[in-house]
Amino acid sequence: MRLLVTGGAGFIGANFVHLTLRENPDVDVTVLDAFTYAGSREALAPVADRIRLVTGDITDGPVVDALVGAADAVVHFAAETHVDNALADPAPFLHSNVIGTFTVLEAVRRHGTRLHHVSTDEVYGDLALDDPGRFTESTPYNPSSPYSSTKASADLLVRAWVRSYGVRATISNCSNNYGPYQHVEKFIPRQITNLLTGRRAKLYGAGANVRDWIHVDDHNAAVWRILADGEIGRTYLIGADGERDNLSVLRTLLRLMDRDPDDFDHVTDRAGHDLRYAIDASALRSELGWKPTHTDFESGLRATIDWYRDNESWWGPLKNDVEATYARRGQ
Ligand code: NAD
Ligand code: DAU
Repeated sequence: MRLLVTGGAGFIGANFVHLTLRENPDVDVTVLDAFTYAGSREALAPVADRIRLVTGDITDGPVVDALVGAADAVVHFAAETHVDNALADPAPFLHSNVIGTFTVLEAVRRHGTRLHHVSTDEVYGDLALDDPGRFTESTPYNPSSPYSSTKASADLLVRAWVRSYGVRATISNCSNNYGPYQHVEKFIPRQITNLLTGRRAKLYGAGANVRDWIHVDDHNAAVWRILADGEIGRTYLIGADGERDNLSVLRTLLRLMDRDPDDFDHVTDRAGHDLRYAIDASALRSELGWKPTHTDFESGLRATIDWYRDNESWWGPLKNDVEATYARRGQ
């Protein structure tokens, strides 16, 4: 199979490329990535001689057309992904997430190439803390932020291209990922690297917000199941029953890193901060036989802490700028 991976130099995309070459070594992988601030050549360095790496923007029609035309399938990860950045400046999110997905869709329409579109549970908005329900494939879209509204827009474009043009696409909406190569702007790596660099951990508001954590390899294994056997036109929700409030996650990190439980600062809350995400992944489990394997969150966190401790050369050069940006925002 000739596979085009957009955004393959980002956190989930790079882990997807590694997983693919580990488990399906015959797949011929091409990565298309614009190398925004979130893209990393180093994340792909261990497999550089086994992939084709194209530097380019997913809004560049001719580049996308040529690569899609030469592929059997596309897994589309490329996007602007950080909610706080979207609140500060939404424009790049419209560019990459909406126009970029439109450009990919037009190319797969022309060439008849199979597409898997990677999306987020944030398109469903948020749930109350005491709501017994979880998101399912039929939950109405209700995005809250500039980030999630652009991802929702992209998902709706994919659905429309399937129905109107017969494009062969599937969509997945996954919950919060953690694991190696996640940018230090995100919650878990930010706290780990704050502690490793002698800074204090930073919690938005009271930390009651709940996220549904999944290891990045479990997410990517689910993407492979959907790519292989998913029903065209379907949306699949990916989650590993990992609901935890932010304060609990932070306290676990502090304990695992031998710190006092109150060794953190409360900082300015995120505007419009979604309260709770929770995924019901039963359709994916029962229909495609997927199940997560990294089900012990604490040991997953321990391995992630070890990875950041061992790979300061990867994240160290990014850290000061990220923290300077947060400081300007009071976070
Ligand atoms: P990331 O920010 O770490 O990486 C995004 C990658 O896309 C980077 O390599 C960047 O250079 C590239 N990119 C951005 N704009 C581009 C453009 N215009 N053209 C080409 N490349 C471009 O993101 P991530 O956390 O790896 O997320 C990947 C995908 O998974 C996104 O679509 C995101 O919405 C989705 N997702 C993420 C999570 C999560 O917890 N991180 C959960 C569910 C879904
Ligand atoms: O749910 C899937 C989404 O998960 C993906 O679509 C997004 O791309 C990804 O960034 C992530 O979004 P979140 O906003 O949930 O993740 P983030 O890591 O930014 O924050 C997680 C929670 O932690 C959130 O409630 C905000 C809080 N937080 C975040 C940071 C950076 C803090 O309390 N302190 C922090 O320093």
